[in-house]
Amino acid sequence: MYRIVTKEALKPTVILYEIEAPMVAKKAQPGQFIILRVDENGERIPITIHDYDREKGTVTIIVQTVGATTEKLSHKQQGDYLHDFVGPLGKPTETEGKKKVCVVGGGVGCAIAYPVLKKFHDCGAEVHAVVGFKSKDVVILEDKFKAVSSVMKVCTDDGSYGQKGLVTEALKELLDAGNQYDEIFAIGPMVMMKFVCKTTAPYGVPTTVSMSPIMIDGTGMCGGCRLTVGGETKFACVDGPDFDGQLVDWDLAVKRNQMYHDFEVHKHEEVCN
Ligand code: FES
Repeated sequence: MYRIVTKEALKPTVILYEIEAPMVAKKAQPGQFIILRVDENGERIPITIHDYDREKGTVTIIVQTVGATTEKLSHKQQGDYLHDFVGPLGKPTETEGKKKVCVVGGGVGCAIAYPVLKKFHDCGAEVHAVVGFKSKDVVILEDKFKAVSSVMKVCTDDGSYGQKGLVTEALKELLDAGNQYDEIFAIGPMVMMKFVCKTTAPYGVPTTVSMSPIMIDGTGMCGGCRLTVGGETKFACVDGPDFDGQLVDWDLAVKRNQMYHDFEVHKHEEVCN
């Protein structure tokens, strides 16, 4: 059982949970994820690690309350326990040897983008950040991003904060301004990552994406998280979650991710009612 040490609502539907999980904290690295179950009968959901404290033995995740399981999780309070918290899973993000990078985060994906961005910074890279949100009231972690980025652009869909428009437009401005990046790293909704890749393709900049498809066992056995990358079948849980975004079959990935949408909406309604 894994105790919730801290629960903090960053926004009404975006919650930070610090979980007591010493074995996970001991080995966790940016880019990796955990799979949790709220209770014995709960579904397994993968969540990318936001932060960890090896001394305290805790792992921090930031979760958007969007479906049945995240709704159930949001009803847990500080001091309550989670049934499972397995990890760290997946390969850590490769951050060594880069001089200049741009990290693009979308929505709650920014919670995952931050540790990657910080690790690039700590490894000596100049880091630019482009983060996008629907509107001002869901902007998260801005100060943390600013502290480790030499250039930062905040975009909102409705223009209520920062630059109005999509992250791809802000990214294109940075590329057109002559910034030579060794790598662009995108984390967020699949559709956002797909269009980041379309934006960077003409510039020939290596573009890495962090994929979070449906996962079940997290060990490469069930096939739930399979993706087609460069014409080959890959499992996000063991081969990723990071992949060369230009090689991902996006149409297939998006389609697979939407397969359980109706079921998920139904389960969410059940939990809420
Ligand atoms: Fe089962 Fe990846 S989650 S193969």
